[in-house]
Amino acid sequence: MNLVDFIDGHRDQNLTELCEFLRIPSVSTKSEHKPDIERSARWVADHLRAAGFKSVEIIPTKFHPLVYAESLEAPGKPTVLFYGHYDVQPAEPLELWTSPAFEPAVRDGKLYGRGTADDKGQVHIHIKALESLQKVDGKFPINIKMLIEGEEEVGSVSLWDFVEKNKEKLKADALVVSDTSMLAKGAPSITYGLRGLNYYQIELTGPERDLHSGVYGGAVPNPLTVLTELFAKLHDKNFRVTVPGFYDSISKLPPAERKALSALPWNKKDFQKAVGAPGYAGEKGFSIVEQLWTRPTLELIWGGYTGEGAKTVIPSKAHAKFSTRLVPNQDPQKISRAVEKYIRKLLPKTVTCKFDVLSTGKPWVAPFHAPIFKKAQAALEKGFGKKAIFIREGGSIPFVTQMHDTFKVPCVLIGFGLPDENAHAPDEHILLENYFNGIKAIAHFYRDLATL
Ligand code: BES
Ligand code: MN
Ligand code: MN
Repeated sequence: MNLVDFIDGHRDQNLTELCEFLRIPSVSTKSEHKPDIERSARWVADHLRAAGFKSVEIIPTKFHPLVYAESLEAPGKPTVLFYGHYDVQPAEPLELWTSPAFEPAVRDGKLYGRGTADDKGQVHIHIKALESLQKVDGKFPINIKMLIEGEEEVGSVSLWDFVEKNKEKLKADALVVSDTSMLAKGAPSITYGLRGLNYYQIELTGPERDLHSGVYGGAVPNPLTVLTELFAKLHDKNFRVTVPGFYDSISKLPPAERKALSALPWNKKDFQKAVGAPGYAGEKGFSIVEQLWTRPTLELIWGGYTGEGAKTVIPSKAHAKFSTRLVPNQDPQKISRAVEKYIRKLLPKTVTCKFDVLSTGKPWVAPFHAPIFKKAQAALEKGFGKKAIFIREGGSIPFVTQMHDTFKVPCVLIGFGLPDENAHAPDEHILLENYFNGIKAIAHFYRDLATL
């Protein structure tokens, strides 16, 4: 049977199976979901077996299990390592979902549910593409290693240890990842750059305990006030980060790349529609695409008392979570030292500061002239009927940088999400057309790699 007909003939079955995967609330950050994480790992392992992998392992780690499968039965053919994640972000705030986060629902050609785009839907595309090849051709066209983790959304804490200890096992000619986005609907995309991410948390302490603000207010340092003053100083009026040295090592975007980025079919109206803010602001001197993909940032995530209603206290402690997105040549360790040093310098003596770096991650940008990128482009054209473009993105996938540094192999990031599909937010969804075309494109891709 013809591959495309086979895949088209299994649309309903594939979708039903994806919904089963999506119903498992595998939220990696919450311990109450530990059983769901394990169920999700087992689900992945079972479906890799069903897809034709004879060697499938669930590998326990200090935190959440990894799923690893391999098929090395194509002598002389290339070996590809696929990476994805089965864990998802928390669904809160639940009341903002049109239909419940873990009860997948189709509306208007889109499948809604936590993990549809990030990343279960995209992982499923690869499982189904491989299963289709196995059923149609009786075998996999190339050697394939599948590594699907459960800690991506919490910074891939255990993964690096595993990679270090299993370098031989994970060796491959290329890394393939589907955990990114297309530039826009109808624009299949290959991502050649991601930003890095450092994540921080600070705790400022003023009074040793919360104080009645009527009894003490006016004569006591309020750590929340100190916190807001601190964050106001971390950007200047041109939205540049004021941390000394923050931009020091960044190289200028080559003129050819700047031109290529500005020629992409990127639409400002779509961007504004996706964001829905009353106004826009970004670092002066750069286009929005450049701001999003090529410039570093410092973002405040959370601060202070966020409970309901009024509370008339001077808090003893003020907390903030914040992150910096990093671009090539910024060193995560140097940046976190610079940020801490500057923050300590800015803070008054009225508070003490506990400064924690929760995670660090390097940026990644790589050339895309290896032959595998041509194959990926051609396969996307077969699946989507459109020529694929090359983009960078602003999000972060720590594993990609680690793999590229360690194995120096091409990393092919083929995303099937869309920037407005609400990853990490209520009403996350994936366009069904991208899911179905994605299976076809990836099946073609793996098949075509036999002649790389
Ligand atoms: N799939 C995303 C990464 C991503 C998002 C790539 C958008 C390209 C475009 C991934 O699951 C993610 O959310 N990564 C986190 C970092 C991680 C260390 C928690 C991120 O970018 O915030
Ligand atoms: Mn992801
Ligand atoms: Mn994510």
